[in-house]
Amino acid sequence: MAAFLGVLLILSLSLTVSGRQIQGTKRWNELYHNSMYGKLQLENGLARTPQMGWNSWNFFACAINETVIRETADALVSTGLADLGYVYVNIDDCWSSIIRNSKGDLEPDKTTFPSGIKALSDYVHAKGLKLGIYSDAGIFTCQVRPGSIGHENRDAELFASWGIDYLKYDNCYNLGIKPEDRYPPMREALNATGRTIFYSLCEWGVDDPALWANNVGNSWRTTDDISDSWRSMTTIADLNDKWAAYAGPGGWNDPDMLEVGNGGMTYKEYRAHFSIWALMKAPLLVGCDVRNMTKETFEIISNEEVIAINQDTLGIQGRKVFIDGKDGCRQVWAGPLSEERLVVAFWNRCTEPTTIEVTWDAIGLEANVAVTVRDLWKHETSSKNMVGSMEVTVDTHACEMYLFTPEVAYENIENIPPLLKTYIKSSAKPKRKHGYEVPSEPSSVAKINSDDPSVA
Ligand code: GLA
Repeated sequence: MAAFLGVLLILSLSLTVSGRQIQGTKRWNELYHNSMYGKLQLENGLARTPQMGWNSWNFFACAINETVIRETADALVSTGLADLGYVYVNIDDCWSSIIRNSKGDLEPDKTTFPSGIKALSDYVHAKGLKLGIYSDAGIFTCQVRPGSIGHENRDAELFASWGIDYLKYDNCYNLGIKPEDRYPPMREALNATGRTIFYSLCEWGVDDPALWANNVGNSWRTTDDISDSWRSMTTIADLNDKWAAYAGPGGWNDPDMLEVGNGGMTYKEYRAHFSIWALMKAPLLVGCDVRNMTKETFEIISNEEVIAINQDTLGIQGRKVFIDGKDGCRQVWAGPLSEERLVVAFWNRCTEPTTIEVTWDAIGLEANVAVTVRDLWKHETSSKNMVGSMEVTVDTHACEMYLFTPEVAYENIENIPPLLKTYIKSSAKPKRKHGYEVPSEPSSVAKINSDDPSVA
């Protein structure tokens, strides 16, 4: 009997030690406690790659209720989008009552969320998904529901008690207090709950959050709200590009949620929107009604090869590296990927179809490097030995996107900024001796350690 118990003990100890979720003894927890994790910076273990999921605002605005949220969770699973990584189901503004209850707590709107948020989070969790909620670093949300300023601890505890996994924290009615002072208290409050909660700052880029938010939140909005139009989408892409050097695993620039499927852009424009958001390592938060998607919408947001660009472990934001033509409407956006690959997108922002040509030099490759080129929308290898330059005919407002796998070594690793060098070294396969040459202007990579990216 004693021998049997001994074996059991050894077995359970080794299982415990080799498992990732160590519950452990009291002593174990004392030795290896991580209660200070995230105190000095937001190393909460989340956002190693940009967050993926859905958010209610772009399609539903205030017309949300618990049925919509449940059915959305159902649809994310039944369509297969959840399996592709779209796991956050994020409720935006208008979920709460107009006033706090007599205890001072936020309360869900009784008409639209009669079963309460805990029931909803149980439902969403049972499907293997995560639930996000919304509040505001001010006295009211943008739709004039109670905000969380001055109530950070109480609200964070409530969210944690409901099983919330993600908080989007908006910027309305902010009393004119600097965002650098208003956003950290919620980080502290979320940390103090002991629950791991993704912290998404929605400060609209007002005070250049890329410069200060990477130890506050897991992502930070860099711009005002997107709307469902070509003009808004392209403007926002350019604004977000400016901060490319500041994104990385743990904290991402957020150019706002996807509009794909909402009707205001053409199929090609939506494909460009999705391609560029993926390349920019933007959060991929679907903003349409996923219960009623067209085939085209589904085809765009379910492109696994494009999603893989976004979720690449290297975590470097791709950026605009080359412009040509009237008003720079012939554009090439590119970014390094793990395993010394690159993503290269040819984006025609002109009003006519056009041919875009890019030299290897413009994307940071030595001219003699042979590249295997894979078309990420056609899902085929289009060339095995492309050398020196590449030319693509692109439809109006379309974006063709390629995965570049260089076949021979390229040098120049000494010329790149230190941070990027570390990323590249850590992802390099030992048997290949590639470096990565940073593209010259207009890339903002070169400003990676600068506090003033305005010239990027
Ligand atoms: C702001 C945010 C939007 C959305 C609305 C809700 O405008 O930037 O993303 O959350 O508030 O009221």
